Amino acid sequence: MYKVISLILFILVYKFSYSETIIRFSHVVSVDSPKGIAVEKFKTELEKISSGRLKVLIYPEGTLFDDIPVIEALKKNIVQMAAPSFSKFSDKIRDFQVFDIPFLFNNIKDIHNFYNSKAISILNRETENFGLKILDFWDNDFKHITCSKRLIKKPEDLKGLKVRTMGSDILNAQFKIVGAMPYTYPFGSLKHILEEGLIDCQENTFNNIYSQKLYNSQKYLTVSSHGYLGYAVVISKKFWESLSGEEKKLIKEALKKTTAYERELAQRKNFTDFFRLTHKSNLVVHKLSEEEKVYWITFYKRHKNLFLNYLSSEMAKELQEMGLY
Ligand code: LMR
Repeated sequence: MYKVISLILFILVYKFSYSETIIRFSHVVSVDSPKGIAVEKFKTELEKISSGRLKVLIYPEGTLFDDIPVIEALKKNIVQMAAPSFSKFSDKIRDFQVFDIPFLFNNIKDIHNFYNSKAISILNRETENFGLKILDFWDNDFKHITCSKRLIKKPEDLKGLKVRTMGSDILNAQFKIVGAMPYTYPFGSLKHILEEGLIDCQENTFNNIYSQKLYNSQKYLTVSSHGYLGYAVVISKKFWESLSGEEKKLIKEALKKTTAYERELAQRKNFTDFFRLTHKSNLVVHKLSEEEKVYWITFYKRHKNLFLNYLSSEMAKELQEMGLY
């Protein structure tokens, strides 16, 4: 009897001390992109500090879910973590589109300041109400326009062209306003639709343009920095609430280190990839002159109310109070 009780106690203690918690982390970009590398780092950090009790399984390059369906999968706790670009949330949490408003932010410092603003408390609340929790924000960079048909120097040059977008109403409006035709396609098919000539143009960061080899099907690159592509690192709320205080602390700790690393890496990679696109591809690269840039900014400012109408009145008011819009 004594032996049986000891054995049961041993099994229980063993199970308790060595039980693993699995975190499935899904993303769509290549493993050597800033986000791809960051997810690997997060895994290494977390598994190390939790002595393997928190285990991260990574599903890169859209192998499990594309970024829009992953949001529903997170809510249902089918996967536990992801870091979709802001635009991909807009279908469910429309205020994420704030990042899609053309020329709202001038530089990365503006973006980082925004992460500490009241606008983000609104976004945090809305995201929790939907069933996810924002843990952090990762960078990619500002977006630029590539096209196969012609060089884009002013917004009107996009007229009549088919443009791939990440899918938010604001992104689509940004192109409809100029008479272009926006189409939403998943990141995984971007390369192919451009190669097949189904779509003429797209907007993305230097790193995504380079890592997806979009320079093979696109002829022109306009360095416009007209919008920002960043990521919300989110976790399923259902999963988060099932974790102990200690587990939550470890996740936050691993993420803190990863975020600092990811942001630095994103800047470095985009810088290098811009150099490669300019010097090692056949793209015709045009950087908007100061005058051209003022023209673009003025053009889109005229449509300010249209963009604001896609946001909640609370977010629109906050932007105005912050003097951003
Ligand atoms: C895209 O769909 O172009 C991007 O959101 C991909 C990414 O995650 O950077």
